[in-house]
Amino acid sequence: MNQQTVYIVYFSPAGTTRMVAQALAHEASTAGYPVVSLDLASRSTDVKVVQSRISKGDILFAGTPVYANHPVPVVMDFLAGLSETEGAYAAPFVTFGAVSSGVALREMATMAKEKKMTVLGGIKVAARHSMLWQSDAPLGKGRPDEKDMAEVARFAQAVMGKASADGKAGPLPEDALNYQRQEVQEAAKAAGLHVIKPMLLPFDVNIDACTQCGLCVENCPTANITLEEGPVFADRCVVCFNCVRVCEPGAISSKVLPFIEADLHKRLDFFREPAETVAFV
Ligand SMILES: Cc1cc2nc3c(=O)[nH]c(=O)nc-3n(C[C@H](O)[C@H](O)[C@H](O)COP(=O)(O)O)c2cc1C
Ligand code: SF4
Ligand code: SF4
Repeated sequence: MNQQTVYIVYFSPAGTTRMVAQALAHEASTAGYPVVSLDLASRSTDVKVVQSRISKGDILFAGTPVYANHPVPVVMDFLAGLSETEGAYAAPFVTFGAVSSGVALREMATMAKEKKMTVLGGIKVAARHSMLWQSDAPLGKGRPDEKDMAEVARFAQAVMGKASADGKAGPLPEDALNYQRQEVQEAAKAAGLHVIKPMLLPFDVNIDACTQCGLCVENCPTANITLEEGPVFADRCVVCFNCVRVCEPGAISSKVLPFIEADLHKRLDFFREPAETVAFV
């Protein structure tokens, strides 16, 4: 049994990032590490406990879906809330919907370095685009597949191998996660959840169609919905579309959703990022 702990902290509205997190946890426990997994959607008080426990020699795998070229804010907030932990290791992971992984890995690594952690690696995992659940041929269809998940396993083993080499293997080179072209980086600066939110919200609500089933409340990863006569939204929405997706009677709907797929396809030429899983170690 290893002395050090592997922490796996992630946010995953549609479940793909969770699937990667579970694969990392499997590799870590197979390698004999104690594993602590934390889903940032669970709203538990464990967040502060985990933030305070990560210490020298521990490995933190922090994961997020890419939203509008960036990590989801709750994941960055988690990293920002860490104390300075010299000697602890970090390895960010992202899943992206075959459009662009943006600057998410780089931003997470930069934050981990600000906390004096040693970044040992990062991985971007190609995934089905979570906004396109109604599509027959969504971007990233069938991903991550077996090959992607094998790459995730290799990544976990490589990171743990570097950590157990006790610093001798060295951190990831400074620029390794800076893989986007300059114009994509510029576009990412102008993008973000705060930019797309006003374009995608508010959703339309049809109170008469609501059966009070509660599925929207259960599936909202930010506890943003309360049920009155129908769903009532607070302001913590990350536009994951879970509530629209699970509401079978269609009491929650989006006018813009039907136009999103065509719009995303138009952007592919600009981003030119292959729908591939790539590990940087
Ligand atoms: C609001 C929103 C924004 C997204 N932005 C991007 C993006 O910029 N690039 C991309 O390739 N995929 C994007 N996606 C797709 C997700 O990154 C992808 O489907 C991811 O695997 C979802 O992870 P999850 O299943 O853990 O929620 C976006 C999805 C949503 C809902
Ligand atoms: S999922 Fe739809 S039907 Fe169920 S409580 Fe929410 S709004 Fe009402
Ligand atoms: S309100 Fe709906 S779209 Fe917003 S975070 Fe909750 S489930 Fe996702």
